[in-house]
Amino acid sequence: QKISFDFSNAKFMAKDADIEAIKSRVLEAKKTLVEKTGEGNDFLGWIDLPVNYDKEEFDRIKKAAAKIKDDSDVLLVIGIGGSYLGARATIEALRHSFYNMVDKNVRKTPEIYYCGNNLSSTYYAELVDVLADKDFSINVISKSGTTTECSVAFRIFKELLEKKYGKAEASKRIYATTDKEKGALKTLANSEGYETFVVPDDIGGRFSVLTAVGLLPIAVSGADIDLLMQGAANGREYCLNNDFDNNDALKYAAVRNVLHEKAGLGMEILGNFEPSLHYVSEWWKQLYGESEGKDGKGIFPTAVDFTTDLHSLGQFIQEGTKNHFETFINVLNPRKVVTMQLEETDLDGLNYLAGKDVDFINKCAMNGTILAHVDGDVPNIRIDMDAIDELSLGELFYKFEFACGVSGYTLGVNPFNQPGVESYKKNMFALLGKPGFEDMTAKLKARLGE
Ligand code: PA5
Repeated sequence: QKISFDFSNAKFMAKDADIEAIKSRVLEAKKTLVEKTGEGNDFLGWIDLPVNYDKEEFDRIKKAAAKIKDDSDVLLVIGIGGSYLGARATIEALRHSFYNMVDKNVRKTPEIYYCGNNLSSTYYAELVDVLADKDFSINVISKSGTTTECSVAFRIFKELLEKKYGKAEASKRIYATTDKEKGALKTLANSEGYETFVVPDDIGGRFSVLTAVGLLPIAVSGADIDLLMQGAANGREYCLNNDFDNNDALKYAAVRNVLHEKAGLGMEILGNFEPSLHYVSEWWKQLYGESEGKDGKGIFPTAVDFTTDLHSLGQFIQEGTKNHFETFINVLNPRKVVTMQLEETDLDGLNYLAGKDVDFINKCAMNGTILAHVDGDVPNIRIDMDAIDELSLGELFYKFEFACGVSGYTLGVNPFNQPGVESYKKNMFALLGKPGFEDMTAKLKARLGE
């Protein structure tokens, strides 16, 4: 296994006896999950996905990626939430830290930009500036095929693409990842002849990174999608077959629920010491936030990038209101090494570090932080990740997903729905004047003083 968890620094609040007490509930939750007897059980396709995926489609993904690499300087990925975060998390973790900026000969693959994940006119206008002189392709991703942010962005960039290449050539540069038969995007794709990939019915957005949703952009970036699936398959094997005492995913579900219920901690902070993991945290926030935050329950998932945030939020974590615990991702083997050199005159006082790798300094910062936060009564969990590579990341995704399903059922919620995300959409449609929402419009405008 490339991923392991260490719970020793949480033990002062999640004691062995507490874990023993919650164990039967966690095991019951695991049973509910794997036997598919709980609420949301029609969204469990992700459990067997790493070993039971559509091989024909997987092959088409590789072929489409090869074409995009061949004919495009840029891939534009249009999607939001679960149709966005997994791809970005993986690409930013696995590929060059300055992916879009580094010399093309180092990167060897198209630049990748994301949109459809906001409604900023400035962002869109400036993205048009970036794309105007480049050969580009679009991967538009939406399970429902009707998400406003995504549809707005697609309309803008489809027009740009059609202006550039003409309608027929543009349609060969558009790849639509959506439902197999329904939704506006599927209808459009059928009528325009776009190549399509499927978001399986039984996999919700936040569990879809290892479907075509994530895999096409990831393959275009040059990351190895076979190894990513293999890593997830390794995680699956482990999560399904190991008993509680030898199963970090089950223990993670147990410890976080104990810290929440018994110690009253309402927030989990995922901390990394590698900037390239920033979007892995964003992906994790969505996974746990949408899965657990409902029925007035849940642990609020938030994230920090260390050491950056040690110079801002670190103060609050150490000494502020005590309602949080931390989970650190510790990367054991960095992809690259930078050694501190000796200087003849030690004006900056750093010669004591000469010969040390920057990662050694990073690890000292991490271990110092872990101990300081424990001293500040902030319990923490440490996840050791062998390296930021495909095998480790695939396994990490799977273990987080599995623990999330178990944790949600332990908490007593349906981890696989997200009814709360609809409220803002209804208001937005009414304010936009979308047909069918007329009765709400006047009431909302009055509340806004319009
Ligand atoms: O997890 C979810 O279901 C959401 O975050 C969706 O992924 C997000 O709203 C995008 O939806 P869609 O793929 O239908 O455009």
